[in-house]
Amino acid sequence: MHRDPFEAILAERIGLDAASIGHDEVARAVRRRVEATGCEDTAAYLARLVGSDTEWEELAELVLVPETWFFREPTAFDLLAARAALHASSGSRRRFSVLSLPCATGAEPYSVAMTLLDVGLTAAQFRVEAIDVSRRAIEAAREATYSARSVARAGPVRRQRFFEEADDLWRVRDDVRRLVRFSRGNLVDPQLLAGAAPFDVVFCRNVLIYLSGEARLRVVATLSRLVRPDGVLLTGHAEPLRLVAPAFASARVPRTFAWVASAPGSNQARPALHAGRAVRQAAMSPSAPRAERALPGAAPPDAAALLAQATRLADAGDLEQARAVVGRVILARPGEAPGYYLAGIIASGLGRHVDAEVALRRAVYLDPRHAEALQHLAFLRARHGDAAEAERLRLRASLARARNGGDVR
Ligand SMILES: C[S@@+](CC[C@H](N)C(=O)[O-])C[C@H]1O[C@@H](n2cnc3c(N)ncnc32)[C@H](O)[C@@H]1O
Repeated sequence: MHRDPFEAILAERIGLDAASIGHDEVARAVRRRVEATGCEDTAAYLARLVGSDTEWEELAELVLVPETWFFREPTAFDLLAARAALHASSGSRRRFSVLSLPCATGAEPYSVAMTLLDVGLTAAQFRVEAIDVSRRAIEAAREATYSARSVARAGPVRRQRFFEEADDLWRVRDDVRRLVRFSRGNLVDPQLLAGAAPFDVVFCRNVLIYLSGEARLRVVATLSRLVRPDGVLLTGHAEPLRLVAPAFASARVPRTFAWVASAPGSNQARPALHAGRAVRQAAMSPSAPRAERALPGAAPPDAAALLAQATRLADAGDLEQARAVVGRVILARPGEAPGYYLAGIIASGLGRHVDAEVALRRAVYLDPRHAEALQHLAFLRARHGDAAEAERLRLRASLARARNGGDVR
């Protein structure tokens, strides 16, 4: 298939489709390595390359594209934040886990850690793994010093909170650097992270476009092992559905390239938002009439049934439909919190943060002990840079959980 032996070696080692960066780019890299190694010509260099276990890494360093920046495609971080906030409010003691693969020079996994801190998770409540095949990229990531341009999208509040500035360079603070574990690894290695527990969220962005069709298939197989059954895979905007389907189905979150595991043998999406909590609360709510406390079956579409339907739609990622149905819940039960809570979660998933806040505040007004609504409001306020209000809301959420008989975290 590959007439050029260097391209064939790069395809084999790192899955590179040379056409994605240009054949001249590979030829240029080979010339540089011929010079650097003191080989007489490309034939001599090829012999050296074939006979060495490590020379391919040096050649690969010259063709890899480590371009990255903080908060690249920010809607992905909104979705991460929503997932993390829901995980925290679920009361789960399991650490929320995120994988950045590939992580390049670290902007992506550090943006992940900063997002999770913004949401209010403590260092003990999450872990971030970051992997790239490039040794240079991993060294730079551990060094964690970036240009003003790279950190521009972090915004002034985060820059102040998470970075130290010196000579127009921005270094990630040590306590944030320690939250990300970097290592080298190859996406096309089927043994990558073998035995590791799967992750809640996997970022695999802006790399599939550089890989051959065969390499992409291998990567998708690895990703389906690394994403939890209820987890999310985030790809870059240039990486269309056909690259990841049928192993994954769209999570249908607008402006976000998010995928959820497909159920075996189907294209059904698994839960995307875990809105199920709203319907369980509605079913248990003392204000719900007795007949409505059970989860609805074939009963006529009363408010509880509509709430269940909206929850199912939200869980399946159909947020626009879910929004329409939850509107009917609120019309039927304007004095009860669960509809507003679900409306807030859906609006948040749709990126309508103002609507989300209005709905969640209404839920809290109607039910001042609604810990999940308080927690999600805290997340929205933190996202807005309003750290003080976020902290107050988190405290209220903790107290509400304690009063409701749950954990205080
Ligand atoms: C354009 S960067 C994307 C970084 C980050 N995910 C983002 O979206 O900002 C692509 C990265 O993929 C890495 N890469 C390419 N092939 C790889 C492979 N086979 N295994 C692991 N990393 C690879 C490169 O080293 C480079 O750092």
